[in-house]
Amino acid sequence: METIAFFNLKGGVGKTTSAVNIAWHAANEGIPTLLWDLDPQGASTWLFRAKVKAGSGLKRYLSGKTPIGKRIQATEYTNLDIIPTHFSHRHIEHLLAKQSEQGRHHIIHELMKPLGEKYALLILDCPPSFSLLSEQIFETADAIFLPIIPSHLSLRTFEQIRDFFKENKLKPKRLHGFFTMVDRRRTLHKTILAHPPRHLKNNLISAIPYAAAIEQMGVYRAPLPAFNPDSDVSLAYAQLWVDIKATLKDFKAS
Ligand SMILES: Nc1ncnc2c1ncn2[C@@H]1O[C@H](COP(=O)(O)OP(=O)(O)O)[C@@H](O)[C@H]1O
Ligand SMILES: [Mg+2]
Repeated sequence: METIAFFNLKGGVGKTTSAVNIAWHAANEGIPTLLWDLDPQGASTWLFRAKVKAGSGLKRYLSGKTPIGKRIQATEYTNLDIIPTHFSHRHIEHLLAKQSEQGRHHIIHELMKPLGEKYALLILDCPPSFSLLSEQIFETADAIFLPIIPSHLSLRTFEQIRDFFKENKLKPKRLHGFFTMVDRRRTLHKTILAHPPRHLKNNLISAIPYAAAIEQMGVYRAPLPAFNPDSDVSLAYAQLWVDIKATLKDFKAS
């Protein structure tokens, strides 16, 4: 199983939108795919109409009392399942710290391992923060994808994340950026896309335009290519999936 994460320190940059659309593309190609919504805001849970069940608190899963597989729900799409978020996710830092005190530093990795029996791709929709959770994700994921809105502050955030990887010996090569919400009428966007900083340029994959069609995902509560496959932004997501696949050893040949 390949594990990929959509991450950024910033909120509202397109992590969830990308995770949901890429999950659809993978599943549509016949790849058994699981999307794990790790953000207590639950945007991907909501978009896939998954149910947030009572009594599915995180504590039981992190402690190993209940296997994480029990929380998996099917979506209405073939090959695509989801682990919905739960309000208890807001306590995840506290619970991870407690597990660490007990010597379990890689609990997220432990939880993921059995998922590989059924799924070929695990996609993590991450909350926007540096935290114990993100550190464990950085250690575990085969690749981490950062949506970046073209602005100087966003480029600085990319550098901060890259520095964190280097300082913690986390192999920054697994870190891939892609520009999103790109408006080519804006000079700043055009300039940044034409001349991305060197570190970003080396690991940059295709860009996603700013498009009102994306907002329709909230109206239909569905991935964009499921109801609007032909728009420019939908085609951009299809290309992004091709680029993501090329970074993953399991899918390179397909
Ligand atoms: N390419 C895009 N064009 C226009 N709006 C977008 C685009 N990508 C995301 N959005 C909108 O921006 C908001 C934040 O996106 P979201 O994916 O939820 O970000 P995050 O998960 O990083 O917080 C949402 O309302 C979403 O519909
Ligand atoms: Mg989100």
